[in-house]
Amino acid sequence: MLAVIVGILFISAGLGRLVWDKIAAAIDDRPVARIVEALKIAPGQKIADVGSSDGPFIFPLAEQTGKTGVVYAVDINPKALQKVERLTHKREVGNVRAILAAEADPKIPEPVDLVFISATLHHIKDRPAYLRTLRRYLKSAGRIAVIDPIDRWPPFHGRMKYTLDELDGWMQEAGYRRVEKHDFVPHCFFVIYEVGQ
Ligand SMILES: C[S@@+](CC[C@H](N)C(=O)[O-])C[C@H]1O[C@@H](n2cnc3c(N)ncnc32)[C@H](O)[C@@H]1O
Repeated sequence: MLAVIVGILFISAGLGRLVWDKIAAAIDDRPVARIVEALKIAPGQKIADVGSSDGPFIFPLAEQTGKTGVVYAVDINPKALQKVERLTHKREVGNVRAILAAEADPKIPEPVDLVFISATLHHIKDRPAYLRTLRRYLKSAGRIAVIDPIDRWPPFHGRMKYTLDELDGWMQEAGYRRVEKHDFVPHCFFVIYEVGQ
């Protein structure tokens, strides 16, 4: 009996997740191409998409940096990374690498020109410490781009909320300065920081 109940709960959770993923994808109104364009990526650059999931930015970023560059798809979810690897293989893309991160350490294999972190920073528990850690993985003129909600947070995200003012404060303490702010991502801020000189 217990096994049946556990089984039903397991299947319901799986179905719930599937349905939520479909809804989330359907209401995802982020202008991906415009966001990637605003990042002004030069061919050959090394990029880390932190919290990439199997999400919408990996391959557009890879297209911008081209064959001589690389995109590290960084996530703590091995299943998402397996999907990234399958897609990479299927699309015959040679410049995307999946990296299994730890909760507090992205484990990017080499210094990068850009850390792109979209809809993910709010999941990280100690954000100020994480942003300090990211400096180790950036080249001296490296940049960090952050996208996160201003409002319209997904369900059950109450405790993860933070504001752009808080982010600016953490970034300043970690030694970055904000260089760009875009207002075209619905319900989200999109800001770019540089390592301070
Ligand atoms: C909402 S998804 C964002 C996917 C994609 N970046 C986008 O904008 O559509 C958040 C992702 O962050 C990942 N994540 C959560 N905590 C993380 C951490 N500490 N380090 C790296 N990835 C993390 C989750 O596994 C999930 O794939």
